[in-house]
Amino acid sequence: MNHFLDIHTTAPDDLRAMLDMARQMKDARNGLPKGTLDADQPLKGQMVALIFEKPSTRTRVSFDVGVRQLGGQTMVLSGSDMQLGHGETIADTARVLSRYVDLIMIRTFEEETLLEMAEYASVPVINGLTNRTHPCQIMADIMTYEEHRGPIKGKKVVWSGDGNNVCASFLHAAGQLGFDVTFTGPKQLDPEAEWIELARSKGSNIEIERDPVKAVQGADLIVTDTWVSMHDPESAKERRHNQLRGYQVNEALMAQAKPDALFMHCLPAHRNDEATSAVMDGPHSVIFDEAENRLHAQKAVMRWCLGK
Ligand code: CP
Repeated sequence: MNHFLDIHTTAPDDLRAMLDMARQMKDARNGLPKGTLDADQPLKGQMVALIFEKPSTRTRVSFDVGVRQLGGQTMVLSGSDMQLGHGETIADTARVLSRYVDLIMIRTFEEETLLEMAEYASVPVINGLTNRTHPCQIMADIMTYEEHRGPIKGKKVVWSGDGNNVCASFLHAAGQLGFDVTFTGPKQLDPEAEWIELARSKGSNIEIERDPVKAVQGADLIVTDTWVSMHDPESAKERRHNQLRGYQVNEALMAQAKPDALFMHCLPAHRNDEATSAVMDGPHSVIFDEAENRLHAQKAVMRWCLGK
């Protein structure tokens, strides 16, 4: 049994095997109607619990569709509707759910909730986002980069804006898969030092560059995300906008990167804040391929978790 809790705690060979599997499954479905089941049914007879303590469009729908394509069944659960939201411990919830379902995906606030769920569950647990990390997103992002441009090893990724949970998982992937990351944003929103040091300790070149124009020189990929994350207070909005306005990804900034640089955003986006519509809908953008690849990458993650 494998939990999929974070990129940096998953062996590089396993990450690579999942990415290869995702690619094969995507190719095998080419042109088929969305509701067509995969030829093999590795999750036949399996029940998957999808727990959401935060809102979601992509994670919810892509996991639900993915489980069904693999032949399994899902139950989508809101944290607030469960006893989880009314004082039952995570440990007890994990032990109870393990008697009913074969796999648990949880989107939650605190990383400790995810880790406690994994410690006490006797079935695999998948991280569907915490305040600190978002590994499933980055599996889809790596898959997307490689289907457009080939191996990401040795490439330069620039993260512009808030050094948030998605940025953290990019840093984890840099260390595991051998690419470099330059963060450009205000000092107050730097990624966690622990993640920077971890990636550096594995040989990745991780740079902090406050000037976004300097940061994107030679970039193979520019990534950004919302300026206010789901767990940030609404009161942070005005301050964040003032801090981050200079880090908007617009056509002028994209033009400073390599001519074939890609643009990514995990979505949902606030158009014309962190990135302009001209970039999001422009020739460098692969944002909807990223969204689609959540489906294929997570199907591979689930198969790996269940040894299928
Ligand atoms: N990118 C992402 O996780 O999207 P959702 O919040 O819609 O699931």
